[in-house]
Amino acid sequence: MAVSIALMEGDGVGPEIVAEAVKVLKKCSEKTGTAFEFVDAPAGGQHYKKTGTVLPDSTLQTCREAAGIIKGPVGLPDLPQGLVEKEAVLRLRQALGLYVNIRPARLYSCLKDQSPLKDRVIGTGIDYVIIRENSEGLYSMMGETSEDKATDVNFYTKKGVSRIIEYAFEYAKKTGRKKVTSADKANVLTASRFWRKHFVEIGKRYPEIAQESQYIDAMAQYIIRWPSSYDVIVTDNMFGDILSDEAAETVGSLGMGGSVNLDPNGPKMAEAIHGSAPDIAGKGIANPVGIVMGCKYMLETIGLQKDAALIGNAVEAALEKGARTKDIAKGENDTAISTAQMGSAIADEI
Ligand code: IPM
Ligand code: MG
Repeated sequence: MAVSIALMEGDGVGPEIVAEAVKVLKKCSEKTGTAFEFVDAPAGGQHYKKTGTVLPDSTLQTCREAAGIIKGPVGLPDLPQGLVEKEAVLRLRQALGLYVNIRPARLYSCLKDQSPLKDRVIGTGIDYVIIRENSEGLYSMMGETSEDKATDVNFYTKKGVSRIIEYAFEYAKKTGRKKVTSADKANVLTASRFWRKHFVEIGKRYPEIAQESQYIDAMAQYIIRWPSSYDVIVTDNMFGDILSDEAAETVGSLGMGGSVNLDPNGPKMAEAIHGSAPDIAGKGIANPVGIVMGCKYMLETIGLQKDAALIGNAVEAALEKGARTKDIAKGENDTAISTAQMGSAIADEI
């Protein structure tokens, strides 16, 4: 039976990078025999302009029925700020119950020169995984605005906090990682003290895994000072959003960052961690590696390990052979290739 994949192209560079992800998956299919069936799932700013709806119910339904979703970034500068994001990011994640967001940061040795960090800081390398809580916190959409005040509610439940922390420990166990570091702001925020209490409690069930809590501001510093000291990081929604952009830059570029949003018992959604980048849309210079790696993580969590490994290895091989989009063409001898050429370079390695 074919694996159904919902395609949400999104805005800005979205359609360009999603096309490359599809190209890579189709090539993968030829090799492994895994059949993918792609179904359109329109949403986002362009869709809003056409229809007046950001996230149609029919799209949500398509996503619910699919095994996987490939989602391009959404948002356009000529629409009211937050309108599209609220629907096609926050509500989408909530409605599908995608409470886990996995955002790995790994520095390929061939991209060492592209990292803003010095060799001596990189040390033994950068290879950690941020597990971001993806459904609560400041993203709970519980705020209010009036003429003279605005609030966002940093809302956390025992269920929400426990399941993501448990997921992080289980993830470490399953992938052979040795340490889980939790990031919070427990010296200031009530919700963070609640988070830390549960982290310590749940951690007791995993004595074989090293564990510690750090304040988010300290961690923002440590991931550029001692990046090799991290293994698995578990953190809340807002902190995970910020930290993962920083982490992606340390491994070469924001364009390298891929992620999967998931409900362990439900849909798995591949996303690049970057935005729709309208300033470079249509120029063919966006890096498709983020979304392609998102697909790799999506396939991994669907249980298609062979396909996932093939794609991961192909990305690495293409980069090793010198394939560089503009954002990572910082070396003296680097020539930048286009979005489509990068997709083809990865597909060729498959
Ligand atoms: C991300 C993005 C989104 C987020 C935006 C587009 C709403 O920055 O996936 O990291 O804040 O989660
Ligand atoms: Mg972000």
